[in-house]
Amino acid sequence: LTPELARAESLIREVDDFPSQGILFRDITPLLADARAFRATVDALIAPFLGTFDVVAGLEARGFLFASAAAYTANAGLMPIRKAGKLPRPAAAVDYSLEYGVAMVEAHDDFPRGSRVLLIDDVLATGGTLAAAHKLIERLGYTAAGTAVLFEIADLGGRDTLNDPLLHTVFNG
Ligand code: PRP
Ligand code: MG
Repeated sequence: LTPELARAESLIREVDDFPSQGILFRDITPLLADARAFRATVDALIAPFLGTFDVVAGLEARGFLFASAAAYTANAGLMPIRKAGKLPRPAAAVDYSLEYGVAMVEAHDDFPRGSRVLLIDDVLATGGTLAAAHKLIERLGYTAAGTAVLFEIADLGGRDTLNDPLLHTVFNG
């Protein structure tokens, strides 16, 4: 890690027992609040992939914060991958399981078939969200260019669930 990125990582705030008892929540808002840290983090997310993608896909909601800035910086299009029921004409949907219940991600198909899509989210936990997004990209006829996250919670095995050889983690990769 560069000193700038080490400082960015130190701005992630750990909050005990949120959103429920026993959960250690990593709050990224202090990182977002710091201009230099935010810029360094966005640059680091896309650095290994420059020239290999046409589109940045961001996962609602926290993934949007980084994907939008990444797409702007890289001169790429932006694909919002949304939770169920938010898009007027979803071209594909993939469901995935949560600790309690199920969820679904959807997207439009506004890009040419074969577009190379870089997936961005804030964190890889169980991997359910990003694995579903990955399936969605393929179902839409696009090519996966890789996955970039700020950090992973390694104990949860998300890396194996996602199974993307082009997984990049900024803070613990
Ligand atoms: C969180 C986080 C990741 C996902 C990771 O999103 O932002 O998207 O969980 O978990 P997983 O690897 O176990 O799937 P969440 O849907 O909780 O909320 P958000 O709308 O604030 O991003
Ligand atoms: Mg999320």
